[in-house]
Amino acid sequence: MVPVYRTELLYKCACFKIKKINQLKIQITPMKKLADKVAVVTGSSKGIGAGIAKGLAAEGASVVINYSSSQESADKTVAEIIENGGKAIAIKGSVVCESDIARLFEETVKTFGTVDILVNNAGVYRFAPLEGITAEDFHFMFDINVRGVFLTTKEAVKHFNGSGGSIINIGSVVTSLAPAGSSVYNASKCTADIITKSLSKELAGRKIRVNSVNPGMVDTEGNREKGIIGTPFEDMMLNMTLLGRAGQPGDIADVVVFLASEDSRFMTGEVLRVTGGMA
Ligand SMILES: NC(=O)c1ccc[n+]([C@@H]2O[C@H](COP(=O)([O-])OP(=O)(O)OC[C@H]3O[C@@H](n4cnc5c(N)ncnc54)[C@H](OP(=O)(O)O)[C@@H]3O)[C@@H](O)[C@H]2O)c1
Repeated sequence: MVPVYRTELLYKCACFKIKKINQLKIQITPMKKLADKVAVVTGSSKGIGAGIAKGLAAEGASVVINYSSSQESADKTVAEIIENGGKAIAIKGSVVCESDIARLFEETVKTFGTVDILVNNAGVYRFAPLEGITAEDFHFMFDINVRGVFLTTKEAVKHFNGSGGSIINIGSVVTSLAPAGSSVYNASKCTADIITKSLSKELAGRKIRVNSVNPGMVDTEGNREKGIIGTPFEDMMLNMTLLGRAGQPGDIADVVVFLASEDSRFMTGEVLRVTGGMA
């Protein structure tokens, strides 16, 4: 029989070892990939943008949720990030209004001190065959999908600090698929691809990397409003998708986190398709 004092000793030793193991576990918790980084995500009140904002915040970035009208959705996204231990604020402003964009970055720097990551996600889509497309549709899509990316990027880079940063443009699978019935949207997103490539060359000297993520069909509020998700059109799109499902905002967010982080430090000027294998 083991004497009582030995049992107590063994018990104390075991407790000490468990405490040490727990301390060690705390010490080896990996650093979050975007700790101390500040990210601005345009159009992140909902849809893919909200998913990206949540993904960046989960990796430690302080995130600015930009939106043009949906304040309630923006506040909800901010609340969700904060509840999960992250940092976020919402700033209203249209990506096509220069004074709004100037204020967006002024307020970002005032709150978080700098800007390291810009995600140009705000974008609009209207689908119609040639005879149904109007000049107004053309200007609406090119204004937000192209002019918005230029204006926002131009303002953002004024605030990036000497250590550089990462810009990620959200394009679309349409730039490689070129589907019928969306020629103007396709053209606007092809322009975004070429902006990525050109600006990667212009900004490399300042250690600012520029890449694109081009999603396939993703289940978002915008797609539901347009009657794409939950209709025969969705079935048609899924038949073209090897993985047989629509993407979720988180599927896109994970790739954006990669491009925002040091994991992609040797990548710039790239256009990554994230489509579930759409062809
Ligand atoms: N969903 C897809 O299947 C899919 C596929 C490929 C690419 N994309 C691209 O992914 C991006 C997001 O698409 P989504 O489906 O997530 O769209 P969504 O659900 O319609 O959300 C669009 C977001 O953009 C914001 N926004 C619109 N106009 C704006 C402006 N002028 N200034 C600032 N924010 C503005 C909206 O905010 P407010 O509501 O406040 O206006 C909203 O937060 C777009 O660039 C789209 O082209 C989407």
